[in-house]
Amino acid sequence: MDLTKIRSQFQKWDISKIEFPKIDFSSLKLPKAKLPPLKIGNLTAKIPIVQGGMGVGISLSGLASAVSRAGGIGVIAANAIGMIEPDYFKNGVEANKRALRKEIRKAKEKGSNGVIGVNIMVALNDYHEMMDVAIEEKADVLFLGAGLPLRGIPVDRIRDAGVSIVPIVSSARAAKLIFSYWEKNYQTIPDGVVVEGPEAGGHLGFKHEQIEDPAFRLEKIIPEVVETINEIGKRNRREIPVIAAGGVFTGSDIHKFLKLGASGVQMGTRFVATEECDADHGFKQNFVNATKEDVMIIKSPVGMPGRAIRNKFLSDVHSGIKKKFKCPWQCLESCEADKANYCISIALNNARKGNMVNGYAFAGSNAYRVESIVPVSELVNELKLDYSNVVEKSSEKIKSEFELIKKKLVRLKGEYEYVIDQALTQFKEDYKNSIDKKSEYIKIEIEKQKVKIASLKEEFLEGLGNLSLLQNEFLTVTA
Ligand SMILES: Cc1cc2nc3c(=O)[nH]c(=O)nc-3n(C[C@H](O)[C@H](O)[C@H](O)COP(=O)(O)O)c2cc1C
Repeated sequence: MDLTKIRSQFQKWDISKIEFPKIDFSSLKLPKAKLPPLKIGNLTAKIPIVQGGMGVGISLSGLASAVSRAGGIGVIAANAIGMIEPDYFKNGVEANKRALRKEIRKAKEKGSNGVIGVNIMVALNDYHEMMDVAIEEKADVLFLGAGLPLRGIPVDRIRDAGVSIVPIVSSARAAKLIFSYWEKNYQTIPDGVVVEGPEAGGHLGFKHEQIEDPAFRLEKIIPEVVETINEIGKRNRREIPVIAAGGVFTGSDIHKFLKLGASGVQMGTRFVATEECDADHGFKQNFVNATKEDVMIIKSPVGMPGRAIRNKFLSDVHSGIKKKFKCPWQCLESCEADKANYCISIALNNARKGNMVNGYAFAGSNAYRVESIVPVSELVNELKLDYSNVVEKSSEKIKSEFELIKKKLVRLKGEYEYVIDQALTQFKEDYKNSIDKKSEYIKIEIEKQKVKIASLKEEFLEGLGNLSLLQNEFLTVTA
């Protein structure tokens, strides 16, 4: 047996040449981590926050312009917006069109060139008329929810007007259906997608039993939609932002969803409790006063579940008491006014005006966490600060993990060298002693040591890989 051969078997891998990835933490000045911008089509919002459209009349030009001034996307809700006009009950569609036009103009005037969107429910009977007004007024972006925006989309006019289109969905399946339909029928795709999970306020795109089911949590749905949309985006050479909605309450929540692949978030509940929100103070105060038990799931007269704040009006209608109303016009396609206990548009409009006796407030699952009514700028600053604190904390965590792995690698390096040394000394002895016996034993031992060394090498390389991953993660987090 040739000893030099054995030595060469052990020393094939020169550990001394391995370099650890290096981050000199002491010289790295961590910049205050800032919320990244949100790009939708040709638009860029300074911060990745969309204020969710909230009807009836909860998000009009007041709230939308304040959010856009703060760097986010302010959104006017189009459904039954004509209720702020005097003639809605005589002339629903015309009042809606007029009110939407006025509100878009006002929001743009007050929005200091920020981004203004319009939320239009596909289930509205005047959905196309509302879309036409928003296109004519060149709203920056249309959010199309409560139904699938498939047929009859005036894509050419939308593109000519430079308006971006973002459907609102509750599953990767719905996102795929819409985007594939658009690809096939319009030879283009929407510019982004909002994914609204089961914690949201208002009507929910889930069956009753899915709302509490962990399989339908937003944290689960977002990565699925991101994967689906990235694939479609790649095919169309476009980057399509996914926006997470429902239950986003803090900067830490924003950080969580951005980490899961979303490019932004949509928030409703938090923006209700702002000074600029267009609802009456009584409506906002309802959020401040709500307890966890007050936030409940209702069955809306339009046949979908919704989330709202419990009150006597809701208890009445749920126990079968009919609230008298005269349907102004069939505003929602699926509404069976003759069978309904109340008119949802009238009830929501009453609530908007602070009349909580004849109406109720839609609200997200976190509504009970709202403590006070603050200016939009203060809320946005709080979210920014919380976000940067979380990023800082997570970079601290990465730093200490990095140092820990480095220490482990130094230990492994020592162990590796020691094992080779030991093996060689031992075999030299054994070889001398058994030179004539051609000992099988030595061969077996050599194999054993080789396995041990290989596994040490594997462990070392894995550690090295982790170190590189941490280095990348750290650099992304602090970028
Ligand atoms: C009072 C209220 C009214 C809402 N109205 C609408 C609406 O008219 N159209 C819509 O697409 N979403 C509506 N939503 C949903 C929001 O746009 C948003 O996606 C949702 O509230 C996000 O969840 P969060 O409240 O937990 O932040 C409403 C939500 C609330 C709280």
